[in-house]
Amino acid sequence: MFSKTSKIFVAGHRGLLGSAIMRRLEADGFRNIVTRSKAELDLTDAASVDAFFKSERPEYVFLSAGRTGGIIANIAYPSSFLHENISMQDSVFEAAERHGVTRLIFYGSSCMYPKSSPQPIPEDCLLTGPVEKTSEPYAVAKIAGVVACRAYNNQYRSKRFISLVPNSIYGRNDNFNLESSHVMAGLIRRFHEARIEGALKLDLWGTGRPRREFLHADDAASASIFAMANSDRLENTHYNIGTGEDHSIADLASMIAEIVGYNGEIVWNTSKPDGAIRKVLDSTRFSSFGWRPLVSLHDGIRETYEWFLDSGYAKAHI
Ligand SMILES: NC(=O)c1ccc[n+]([C@@H]2O[C@H](COP(=O)([O-])OP(=O)(O)OC[C@H]3O[C@@H](n4cnc5c(N)ncnc54)[C@H](OP(=O)(O)O)[C@@H]3O)[C@@H](O)[C@H]2O)c1
Repeated sequence: MFSKTSKIFVAGHRGLLGSAIMRRLEADGFRNIVTRSKAELDLTDAASVDAFFKSERPEYVFLSAGRTGGIIANIAYPSSFLHENISMQDSVFEAAERHGVTRLIFYGSSCMYPKSSPQPIPEDCLLTGPVEKTSEPYAVAKIAGVVACRAYNNQYRSKRFISLVPNSIYGRNDNFNLESSHVMAGLIRRFHEARIEGALKLDLWGTGRPRREFLHADDAASASIFAMANSDRLENTHYNIGTGEDHSIADLASMIAEIVGYNGEIVWNTSKPDGAIRKVLDSTRFSSFGWRPLVSLHDGIRETYEWFLDSGYAKAHI
């Protein structure tokens, strides 16, 4: 049973999601948590991963490690996104199966759904059409992970592997590097810099009309721990985890401008592409078990910006 003394491995514990899972587990009194940084244990190295599972014998695993990034990074490093994510998943799944892990949570991504999915996107849209080309290698790795979870459960007649599919996550420990950040962190940094520089206008890509869903890392962590605790009730399939609320990029930009204190003009560069017009997950299946996100978008952005200001990151890079 998942309890305060269970031995838990949080892979990627310093990342955006992994650090939120750590905070939540520690706050809830879990006290048998094992972690390894990438430098200590490269999860793409199957032999090292196997040796680690053999000696540490974790019972519960949050696989919150991965090669992540926004559109620029996905276009620049497509083979790395495919290779590293597939290798990490494969090494960890095999070791978890071989060494008797009780439950493991794997994270898919909303970009693994077809480009033409209905909105909000239900889980059964998976593998019904082509995905967005710019993130195809990452999406294919995520699809492989979700299919692998089902396949292991079927082959070994177990409920060991659980797949959760978050939409865009944000929060403290996000990546604010403009070359590899996601939209939320990228916008926070750009508005911050514009305020510091006293800029009168800030150019943003597109029309501002596309609508996106954002999930605070603390809510993604609470969904993960809820899934672990309620794993016996889950079926052998993947579950979307989101707020069910979408916001236009223009509304998001105005909210960030207000929180950051930027008073200049926002100029939409309509010669740049918008991407999908709407991307929101249908998370009703997972919420029917009783899980709810708690962090409002405004509070979440404010907390993220405060962390950004306090973090060594903001001071070192800006
Ligand atoms: N962020 C999102 O919006 C989002 C949305 C949907 C799904 N997801 C999925 O959720 C998971 C976590 O994402 P995140 O945003 O929290 O990622 P992140 O902030 O980029 O953190 C990734 C973590 O993975 C670790 N890592 C990377 N390569 C590794 C390797 N070869 N060996 C061992 N550890 C490695 C890093 O370790 P070090 O710190 O030691 O370098 C880091 O802690 C990923 O699977 C991602 O695909 C994320």
